[in-house]
Amino acid sequence: MTQSNSTVKIYDFYPSFASFKTEILDGLRKPQKEIHAKFFYDKLGSELFEEITMLDEYYPTRTEIFILEQYKKEIASMVGIDSILIEFGSGSSKKIRILLDELPDLTAYMPIDISKEYLEESTEILAHHFPNLPIVAVCADYTELLHLPDIKHAARQVAFFPGSTIGNFEPLAAQKFLRRVSRTLKKGDGMIIGVDLKKDPSVLHAAYNDAKGITAEFNSNLLRRINRELNADFILDNFRHHAFYNKEFGRIEMHLISLTDQTVRVANENISFTKGETIHTENSYKYSIMEFQDMVRNNGFFPEKVWIDPNNLFGVFYLGVSHNSCV
Ligand code: AVJ
Repeated sequence: MTQSNSTVKIYDFYPSFASFKTEILDGLRKPQKEIHAKFFYDKLGSELFEEITMLDEYYPTRTEIFILEQYKKEIASMVGIDSILIEFGSGSSKKIRILLDELPDLTAYMPIDISKEYLEESTEILAHHFPNLPIVAVCADYTELLHLPDIKHAARQVAFFPGSTIGNFEPLAAQKFLRRVSRTLKKGDGMIIGVDLKKDPSVLHAAYNDAKGITAEFNSNLLRRINRELNADFILDNFRHHAFYNKEFGRIEMHLISLTDQTVRVANENISFTKGETIHTENSYKYSIMEFQDMVRNNGFFPEKVWIDPNNLFGVFYLGVSHNSCV
């Protein structure tokens, strides 16, 4: 444990990065080629995502922030005093500030992130804005973390998982994740989670096919990253961004379509594409309020409250820990 300054402590669990090369090659050898969405976020990818969040067509980020702003007093009252707020995948820790403004008596804020660099940088900025807030940062892969560090006694612990990141999980993995989080909590604790809602497919289509083509760039940046890190020779212009709403599965799918028959060299291996073949790069699941509430039941939580925007685009759910289920 290292002490950065008077209010920030960092616990390092030394998250192991599974081999990028192995995961990419495994995915590209499959009959339906695929690359996991977590690989979007190298430095340029993270910057492109930031740009996406500011696009007119991309409503999720600004809508979630609107909801948090609109209902921050009520949300804060559910968190209560003498609580520890735990954020999964804290990144820049920007959204949490909306709630922290309303929670002067918080026992501690515990951001969890896989990137130590990001964690150190963002907690330092946060400590500057909230000099009286005890910050206990945890460097770990939150999808693997089973035990949170036992920092100090608090009346309640509340998890925070914004951004509809849950939408990137396959439904079974989402359920497993919820169960796992609930097991690190006790009865009376809670979770605040942001979820993108089902809506008119044309709105979804626009959000993932923006006019400026930033989402297309974000998608094909994967190939740029593979070229750089795995010594590959993808020609970016030989692939086209394709995003559509798959109604049957309730998800946006993103793909990269091969525009010709071609063979690409990736880490000393030949990967062949026929014209029209795709690499599946992302699923972004959308839930109706009822679907999400049904999913959390039986996975360690019960839906206590939901806040939505006037256009029903996005939901921020407060889940209570039930432990009445077969967790
Ligand atoms: C970060 C997973 C919530 O699914 O909307 C944005 C990622 N992909 N545009 C989403 C994303 C294309 C985003 N999430």
